[in-house]
Amino acid sequence: NQEELNNVILRKRKLAYGVHDVWIKNDLIGRQAKPGQFVIVRISEKGERIPLTIAESNGEAFRIVVKAVGKSTYELCSLNEGDILYDVVGPLGKPSEIKYHGNVLIIGGGVGIAAILPIAKALKSAGNNITVIIGARTIQDLILRDEFTFADKLLPTTDDGSFGYKGNVIDAMKIELEKENYNVIWSIGPAIMMKLSSEIATKYNIPIWVSLNSIMIDGTGMCGGCRTVIKTDNSEKIQYVCVDGPEFDGRYVDWDSFIKRLNQYKEQEKLALERYLK
Ligand code: FES
Repeated sequence: NQEELNNVILRKRKLAYGVHDVWIKNDLIGRQAKPGQFVIVRISEKGERIPLTIAESNGEAFRIVVKAVGKSTYELCSLNEGDILYDVVGPLGKPSEIKYHGNVLIIGGGVGIAAILPIAKALKSAGNNITVIIGARTIQDLILRDEFTFADKLLPTTDDGSFGYKGNVIDAMKIELEKENYNVIWSIGPAIMMKLSSEIATKYNIPIWVSLNSIMIDGTGMCGGCRTVIKTDNSEKIQYVCVDGPEFDGRYVDWDSFIKRLNQYKEQEKLALERYLK
């Protein structure tokens, strides 16, 4: 029956080394998901909760792009079409601020490219003039590069110069900001990339939305696992990425404490992965 079909993997495709594009059947999430929102997936009853940004939705299913980096994401990437996830919670988090802003610069790094896809599409539909910078190490890692044809300007970058501009998205961002005036920026990718792009946005005095990929457990604001410090001019407050975010103005994120918290479990995660791969 329909109920049983929920959370079944409908389609799985390899995008790059260790990176998979997965469509999961789920009527509720498929209908309700808005750009910027995420899901929390569990593979088994005792499994870790994996937060993943929704890359697309179509009324009955949603799409995620997963990179195998730890035990849980490896397990998720090893599932096949027809397999059923233990549970999926979502859509979670506040949607992106989709409205007319004017000139919008949208930056995606690594698997962050999948996260910016629905945001870029929605911003384009809202009448914005959008410039998209996507970057990865090599052409093989530059995922979804054919899916941004709707952008007014697309600037691909690779570290080794195998495709597009030779350099990283930060280099390309600097060049672009010298050329053009932007009203708002979105930047999604590794924490260090979001930190650096936020520093540049601060210099130019442009609001910048980043999507924080924090540690998450319940995703409902109860456990405190995702707490993050947001510093505005005269205040410092704790925000929960799962309910107050995941998007924040990167100019106000306390990046050092965020990155420190993110790395806190790195050692345990490494051990778990080594045990899993043995
Ligand atoms: Fe528990 Fe956000 S994940 S409070």
